[in-house]
Amino acid sequence: LNLWFLRYEDAVGKLLVSSFLALLPSLKLWLHQSHIPLKLVVTVSSCAFSGDVGHVQITGGAGFVGSHLTDKLMMDGHEVTVVDNFFTGRKRNVEHWIGHENFELINHDVVEPLYIEVDQIYHLASPASPPNYMYNPIKTLKTNTIGTLNMLGLAKRVGARLLLASTSEVYGDPEVHPQSEDYWGHVNPIGPRACYDEGKRVAETMCYAYMKQEGVEVRVARIFNTFGPRMHMNDGRVVSNFILQALQGEPLTVYGSGSQTRAFQYVSDLVNGLVALMNSNVSSPVNLGNPEEHTILEFAQLIKNLVGSGSEIQFLSEAQDDPQKRKPDIRKAKMMLAWEPVVPLEEGLNKAIHYFRKELEYQANNQYIPKPKPARIKKGRTRHN
Ligand SMILES: NC(=O)c1ccc[n+]([C@@H]2O[C@H](COP(=O)([O-])OP(=O)(O)OC[C@H]3O[C@@H](n4cnc5c(N)ncnc54)[C@H](O)[C@@H]3O)[C@@H](O)[C@H]2O)c1
Repeated sequence: LNLWFLRYEDAVGKLLVSSFLALLPSLKLWLHQSHIPLKLVVTVSSCAFSGDVGHVQITGGAGFVGSHLTDKLMMDGHEVTVVDNFFTGRKRNVEHWIGHENFELINHDVVEPLYIEVDQIYHLASPASPPNYMYNPIKTLKTNTIGTLNMLGLAKRVGARLLLASTSEVYGDPEVHPQSEDYWGHVNPIGPRACYDEGKRVAETMCYAYMKQEGVEVRVARIFNTFGPRMHMNDGRVVSNFILQALQGEPLTVYGSGSQTRAFQYVSDLVNGLVALMNSNVSSPVNLGNPEEHTILEFAQLIKNLVGSGSEIQFLSEAQDDPQKRKPDIRKAKMMLAWEPVVPLEEGLNKAIHYFRKELEYQANNQYIPKPKPARIKKGRTRHN
């Protein structure tokens, strides 16, 4: 049943649609709790825009970051094709676009070649959290190597520009602080994180080989820790762990002393940075992250306070290869892209907490939504990622 068709134009309309999308989980929950036997299907249709419009492909577009990028690009009037194998992504993240004439969702594994016509490719397909990328290290390597080769091959064939979602993990456990783009990194090539870290490093190498040899236009974003609504609740990353534990009244688990530092950016800041980079002339790697650094212990305390939770903080033994410090040097992004994060940490955390709270209520109330699949995630210690 199609309940809603929104028509909107430019700035006011975009604001309306984004506010509506933010309210959607609460609306669905309310419908469910009120026992109204309706499935709410929202289709945003008939967009009218000004500005450039082109066909954009987002691999991994049904995931956390990819779905927010999809929202932005759809609202900017692009034709968007999401390519995803749903390993960690969910149809639910992009279902509000299904039925829109500019939107297509393809169930496809990037390890296989893909033949479509596009102008720009945001290549995000890859498991991103340690439990997910360690679940099947060989597949993680294939996705980042063969998958990236396939997408670069596609970019070459159709003359598209490709942006690689690389990661701060290419710096490994860094010996310099903060990390700037000219730092080559300190990665253990045979450690438990190597399938992801080295996979992304070679993906970057492939981008520059295609640029030099075949003239493919590439952009490389080195993404630092990002959080926000639609992030996975059970993927063992520090923000999701702490929020979930605080909401459920369980102890907040800190590995090691808690003095290791992280800097987290809110997802809308990252999305704006990705789009700015894609449309810039900067072909060398660019860090995208929030340089506001906090210790893990500070995060635990802040989240506990924002949730209003009585949970204790529990200290566990340190995780292997867990970086001690992580902080982006974003001078390049500031100078070349005129980009910097603008969402304050507490504001972003409150939005994520709100989302997690609604998700927990939704899952508890909806027998049709399967619970997260612990079987896909090998048991073991989670990491502060
Ligand atoms: N979120 C972060 O903090 C962060 C930090 C650094 C880098 N990144 C990078 O950003 C990208 C998106 O991360 P995310 O946090 O949204 O993770 P995510 O797990 O939510 O999204 C990844 C998406 O890729 C899809 N995917 C995985 N393997 C695939 C394959 N072989 N073929 C097609 N689709 C596949 C998944 O189903 C999922 O939808 C990743 O490349 C990740 O490495 C994210």
